[in-house]
Formats: sequence, C-alpha cells, structure tokens
Amino acid sequence: MIHESTTAAPLDLSARYTAAKCIAQEAANRGMDYYRRREELTVLNKSEDATDVVSVADRDLEDFIRQALTTLFPEDGLLGEERGSEGLDAQCVWVIDPIDGTACFVNGLHNWCVSIGLLVDGEPALGVIADPNHHELFHALKGQGAFVNDSPLKPHKATHVREGLVGVGTTHRPGKAHFLPFLTKLLEEGGMFFRSGSGALMTAYVAAGRLLGYHETRLYAWDCLAGIVMLNEVGGRTNDFLRGNALLEGGPFLAACPGVYEQLEAMTGNWIHEDA
Ligand code: IPD
Ligand code: CA
Ligand code: CA
Repeated sequence: MIHESTTAAPLDLSARYTAAKCIAQEAANRGMDYYRRREELTVLNKSEDATDVVSVADRDLEDFIRQALTTLFPEDGLLGEERGSEGLDAQCVWVIDPIDGTACFVNGLHNWCVSIGLLVDGEPALGVIADPNHHELFHALKGQGAFVNDSPLKPHKATHVREGLVGVGTTHRPGKAHFLPFLTKLLEEGGMFFRSGSGALMTAYVAAGRLLGYHETRLYAWDCLAGIVMLNEVGGRTNDFLRGNALLEGGPFLAACPGVYEQLEAMTGNWIHEDA
C-alpha cells in the first residue's frame, strides 16, 4: 500500500538564489535603458522631501521583478517600495527595492542599484544587489558566503573609526535630529563620513570592507535587507533592524565591521535600539 507523504517539499532556496541573481541583473539592465534617457522621464515627488522622488522606471522595474518572481514562486509573498505588500504570511517573502538611489538616478549620478532580499520564516536568507554602472553583482545566501561577482566579500579589519570611511545617510523622515550629533561624534573621534545616496550599496560596501560602517537615521527593509544577509555571512554586525514593526515601518540602521561596531553604536546613542 502506498501512503501519501505528509511531509512538505523542502524549500528550494538555491533555485530562489539563482533566480534572484538573474532577475536583479535583468532589472538592472532594463534600469540602464531608462537611465540613459533619464531626461525624458517625468520625476514625481512622493513627499515634501526633495530627495523622495520616483519615476516610471522605479514602477516598471518593480512590476517586472514581481512578475518574474511570482511566475517562478507563486506561493511566495512580496513587499516592494512602489507596489506594497501581498502574502506577507507566506514562509518566503521577497523584499524589493527596484531602484535604490533614485535621487542619484534622476540626477545622472551612477550610485543606484536594484536590491532584492528574501525572508524565510521572518529571517533574512538571501540578498542580491545589482549595480549596473559598476558591473557589480553583490549576492549572498545564508550559510553559503557572500560575494561581489565571483569574489568573496570580507569586512574591514579596523578597530578604530580613524582607519577608514563610514557611510552615513538621513532624510527628512523621523530620526534626522540624531544625524548631526552622530556626525559630530564621528568627526571628534577622527573618523570621516561618506554618502553615496544608496543605502543598499553602502550596506554591501560594509560587507565588502570598503566602508568601516554605515549608519542611517531611518531606512526601510527594502533598503537594507539584502545587505544584512551579506553582513551576516561575513561576520559583520548590524543592529536588530527587523525588531518590532520595522519590516513595514522602517527604523534606524547601523552596520559595521566587528572591530568598530561598538564604537559607532556608542556614537548613535541608545535611540537606535528603540522601536521604530
Ligand atoms: C533611499 C536611499 C538613500 C537613503 C534613503 C532611502 P530610494 O532609497 O537608500 O541612500 O538615504 O533613506 O530612502 O528612495 O532611493 O529607494
Ligand atoms: Ca531605497
Ligand atoms: Ca527605491
């Protein structure tokens, strides 16, 4: 007699990893088509913050990514910056920023990327960041390491902020009041700041050892989830970004190489541990 198996099929994370890399790269290539003719795009402001902008490129790329993922993995949930959420109670939830660095994109600055992360049972499990201007694909799968193209990522060995650059960012959303005190302390301790305009890329740069750390007063999950997987894989540190309701509402973010994390954490004050 044949018994029907009651065991659910194992989750195919490696298929999701392969798909995410292809889809992010294809979306980035499509993004380049828009970028080359960006002067034709109508740019809309999403809020009173002059850097909070969007164009048809962001929306079309998110539609492309969502459709590609849904075709392959119809059971998975989706959360994206431009098109919202669906199926958030699924075991796998994709977290998508079709263009991170839109203010750079519309102004002809090359610091933008496509970022796709995946949560499995609420935990960051894979992340892919495609930067077409610099021909870099950052990618990581939990337990399998983190890479830029084929090269493994490695965080900086620094033990003091004087030894390199620290990424920073803020917007006019809540949290900006903490920005200048942080910068002041960073400079007082001999550190120096860097801002690229893409939170996803700055997070990946910490995993790659290009930046010692990165602090942003308020980010959304689609800005940093893919990079968090990379940092987890290489022994970098982050604050408990996803605590509380940060998946939907965002919150303060800190990432750093192990040797300077505590120094930067002290500069942010305890407010980064407060709920979003
Ligand atoms: C923004 C970028 C920027 C950061 C903002 C984000 P967007 O994302 O990551 O670096 O300072 O907080 O909103 O709007 O370009 O996708
Ligand atoms: Ca973003
Ligand atoms: Ca975006």
